[in-house]
Formats: sequence, C-alpha cells, structure tokens
Amino acid sequence: MSLDILGIVTSHELPCAGMTGTTKSIVVGLALVLTACGGSKGATTAGSSGKMSAIEAFGLTPPDSPWSEMSVADKEFYMVGKVNPIMKELFERHDLEEYEGFDCVDCHGEEMREIKFKMPAPSMYVVPPEGTLGHKGMLATFPETVKFMQETVTPAMGKLLGIEDFTCAGCHPSSAPQGKKKSAAKKRPSAKKRAH
Ligand code: HEC
Ligand code: HEC
Repeated sequence: MSLDILGIVTSHELPCAGMTGTTKSIVVGLALVLTACGGSKGATTAGSSGKMSAIEAFGLTPPDSPWSEMSVADKEFYMVGKVNPIMKELFERHDLEEYEGFDCVDCHGEEMREIKFKMPAPSMYVVPPEGTLGHKGMLATFPETVKFMQETVTPAMGKLLGIEDFTCAGCHPSSAPQGKKKSAAKKRPSAKKRAH
C-alpha cells in the first residue's frame, strides 16, 4: 500500500474503514480496525512502532459532521481517536528523535487543560506574519521545520478538520501574548534538543 500521506491514501481504500462511521465510534473503531483488520491486511508496519498506520487506517479525511457543529466532547473524541494518532505518525516520521512521544501537549501546550484546549495555545512558538522580519528570521532559523509545517502539517490538519483555509495561525499564535509574562518557550521535556 502506498505510504504517500497527503490525500493519496484515502479511507475507502480500506475494507474496514466503514467502522469509523460516527465520531463517537472512532475510538472503538480504531481498536476494531486494528484487531479485526490488522491481520488480514498483512499488518502494514508503517507506524513508527510497527503497529498499523493510523494514517492508512483512517485516511486524511474530515469528520462526519462539520467541525464547527461538533460538541466539544465530540471534538475531543475526534482528537483522541483520529487527529492525535495521525499527527503523531506524521511528526514521528518526519523526525523521530525530535518528536518521539508526540501528543496533545505538543499542539495544545502545557496549559491545555486550564485553557480548555483553545487554540492557538499562547505558549506555542509564535509564527510572525508573512512579510515581516520576524517571518524571515523564522525561515532562516527553521528552514526544514517550516517546510514540513507548510507541506505536511498544515494541509493534513486542514483535511482532518475539513477546513480548507487552515493556516499556521490555527496552531501557532501570530504575535506574542500581550501584557503577559513572556512565556518560556515550551519545549517537550522528553524531546532531545536539536543537537546539530
Ligand atoms: C497536531 C495538533 C493537535 C494535536 C496533536 C491535538 N490537537 Fe486538539 N486541536 C487542534 C486544533 C488546531 C484545534 C482547534 C481546531 C479549530 O477549531 O480550529 C483543536 C481542538 C481541540 C478541542 C476542541 C476545543 C474547543 O473548545 O473547540 C479539544 C477538546 C481538543 N483539541 C483536544 C485534544 C486532545 C485531548 C488531544 C490529544 C489526544 C489533542 N487535542 C491533540 C490541534 C491538535
Ligand atoms: C496542526 C498544528 C500546526 C500547524 C497548522 C502548524 N504548526 Fe508549526 N508546529 C506544530 C507543533 C506541534 C510543533 C512542535 C512543537 C514542539 O516542539 O513541541 C511545531 C513547531 C514549529 C516550529 C519550530 C519551533 C521550535 O521552537 O522548534 C516552527 C518554526 C513552526 N512550527 C512553524 C510553522 C509554520 C510557519 C506553519 C504554517 C506554515 C506551522 N508551523 C503550522 C504545530 C503546527
């Protein structure tokens, strides 16, 4: 099966994809897909830990009902059952050393519970508006990461939410929080600092 991630693997290539019919069944659905279909499909070992790939299991598909109409509880189910495993896979494939153990907190920030998972999380790295010096600086400092963000992360998130014009600002603040103490750049404690 193709491992191309963006839009090439779609859910209907999978005989078992129908199990993920409703948002609430997704968590259950994943378990079913893994057990009921894992073996018969020859257990694709695309996942970083040899488990079946979440990207292949679900595809980069939108939720069944429009994201904006989902309840917060349903959004959380969807995050837990689909967004998080798929994004974890994308990040770990991109750079396992940096992103191993990728989880909610990497997008939502350490304060995620206090701020009720509102996005963008204020503690996230600030992506300055295009055309500004800050934006140029970002491109110079993080060329590889920005490419990954532009070509993989942003379009994937847009597809998973069914939001066409999803941008960096959906996850990153575009300016530093005003009147607040400068938040220490949140770094994943487990992540090995870029050594190179
Ligand atoms: C790759 C980034 C990413 C990861 C990982 C992620 N989320 Fe999210 N989450 C988002 C974005 C972006 C939104 C907001 C989408 C929008 O409404 O524009 C969101 C929205 C939510 C919401 C809805 C908040 C509201 O009030 O509308 C909840 C709840 C949530 N996430 C929980 C979780 C949980 C729990 C996890 C881990 C299992 C998780 N998320 C992992 C990006 C992420
Ligand atoms: C779906 C959410 C999401 C979107 C959309 C997104 N990012 Fe990110 N970005 C992340 C996460 C998660 C990280 C890793 C944070 C960490 O290390 O814990 C990250 C990291 C980065 C970093 C590295 C920061 C550092 O300190 O290491 C840069 C630079 C960046 N993003 C730029 C962008 C740009 C530019 C865009 C739009 C083209 C974008 N991102 C879109 C979630 C997102």
